[in-house]
Amino acid sequence: MRGSMARLAACLLTMVAVAACSSSKTTTTPTKDAGTDTPAADTVLTDVVKPDVPVADVPPDIAPDLAVTDVPGDVSAVQGPVARGSYLVKFVMACGDCHTPRMPDGSPDMTKQLAGVPAMFDLAPTDPSVGAIGTPNLTPDKTTGLGNWTDDQIKTALTTGMDDKGKPLFPIMPYWLYHNLTADDANAIVAYLRTLPAVANAIPERQPLGFPFTVAAQPLGMDQMPLSSVKAGEPAFAQSQNGRYLVAVAGCVDCHTAPSAAGVPLPVDVTRILAGNRDFPASEFGLPTPPFPVHIFSANLTPHANGIAGWTTTQIQTALQKGLDKDGNKLCPPMPAGPKGPFAGMTDTDALAIGTYLLTIPPVDTGKIDPCKAP
Ligand code: HEC
Ligand code: HEC
Repeated sequence: MRGSMARLAACLLTMVAVAACSSSKTTTTPTKDAGTDTPAADTVLTDVVKPDVPVADVPPDIAPDLAVTDVPGDVSAVQGPVARGSYLVKFVMACGDCHTPRMPDGSPDMTKQLAGVPAMFDLAPTDPSVGAIGTPNLTPDKTTGLGNWTDDQIKTALTTGMDDKGKPLFPIMPYWLYHNLTADDANAIVAYLRTLPAVANAIPERQPLGFPFTVAAQPLGMDQMPLSSVKAGEPAFAQSQNGRYLVAVAGCVDCHTAPSAAGVPLPVDVTRILAGNRDFPASEFGLPTPPFPVHIFSANLTPHANGIAGWTTTQIQTALQKGLDKDGNKLCPPMPAGPKGPFAGMTDTDALAIGTYLLTIPPVDTGKIDPCKAP
C-alpha cells in the first residue's frame, strides 16, 4: 500500500504522465459492522441525503469494524447525521483504509480508529528532501487530532483540500472528489468524527513541497461525471442519481480512471472517467505473484463489451458487497469489496443504485483488460 501510494505520489510529484501511476487504498479492512443508511430509492437526490432519512440503528461506534454480526443488507431505524456519517466513513468512503493504522496481519487497529498513520506514503523514497506523507489523526484529540478544529475547518479540508492553516493537502487525500459531498453529508461526516474516541497519536506534518503542490488539486465536478441515460420522470431516475452521487464520492472514480497526463492539478483523466485500466502492481500490496498477476488493473466500469456490459444491477451489488464478479470469481485487491472490505457494509439500496447508474452511462472502450484471477 505504501508503495502503491508512493507510486501515485511520485507520478504526481514529477507531473509525469505515467499510466502506471496507481492510486492507493487497500482493501484489507475487515468490516462486518451493520450497514446503516438507507436512502429511499424513490426519493430525489436532495432527499436522499437529508439527515433524517432512515438510517440504521448504529450507536456512535467505539470499534465499529469489530462489532459485528453479519452485514444485514438494508436496515432502517432512524439515527440521524451521526449514523449517516458513520455509514459513509466506514462503508462508502472508506476513510479508514488510509487513516487507520494496521496490525501486523494487515487488519485495522481499531484501538486507533482513524488516528492516522505516520509516513503512510513515501513520496520519493530515494529523495530524503521530499520525505513521506502521513495520514493525519482525525480523532477529537486536542493536541494530535482535530479536537481544536472547528466544524467548518474540517469541512473545508474534506471538500476543498485546504487545511486549518490554508495549506493545500496532498491530493492522495481525495478531497477533489469529496468536493461533491452535499452539505448534509459533509456535516454528517464531521458529526461522526466528533463521536470517535480521542486517541493521542502525533503524526508529523509533511515537508513543504514545491509547485504544483502549493495549490490544491482541481476538483472533479459533478458535471464532469458521466450522465445516466435514465431521464427525469422515469422510475429509476432517483436511483440512478443516487448512484451517480455515490460513485462520485466513494473513490470509484479515483481507482477506476487512469491517472491524468497532466498530473496535478487534475488527478485523473477526465476524458475517460470510470473506464478503468489503472495499474495496481501486486507487489505494492504485498501480494505474491503468482498466484496474483504482477499487474492488477482496475476494471472498466462502463457498459462496454470490455467493461460491464451484460451485467445486472444485482451482479454489481454482489461485486461490491461480496467481492465476486458476475461469473462468481473473487475480485482482487485493492478493490475494497466485501466480504471483508468496506463495501461489505454498503446497503442493498446503495449498491443497486450504483449498479443502475453504471449500467446506464455511455460505454467507453478501454480495450481488453485482463481480469486478475484471485486465488
Ligand atoms: C486514499 C487515502 C485517503 C483517504 C481514502 C482519505 N484520506 Fe484524508 N488524508 C489523506 C492524506 C494523505 C492526508 C494528508 C495530506 C497532506 O498531508 O498533505 C489526509 C488529510 C485529511 C484531513 C486533513 C487533516 C489535517 O490534520 O491536516 C482530513 C480532515 C481528512 N483527511 C479527512 C478524511 C476523511 C473524513 C476521509 C473519508 C471521508 C478521508 N480523509 C479519506 C489520505 C486519505
Ligand atoms: C482502491 C481502488 C478501488 C476502489 C476505491 C474501487 N475499486 Fe472497483 N476494482 C478495483 C480493481 C483493481 C478491480 C479489478 C479487480 C480484479 O480484476 O479482480 C476492481 C473491480 C471492480 C469490479 C469488477 C468488474 C469486473 O469486470 O470484474 C466492479 C463491479 C467494481 N470494481 C466496482 C467498483 C465501484 C462501484 C466502486 C466504488 C463504489 C469501486 N469499484 C471502487 C479497484 C477499486
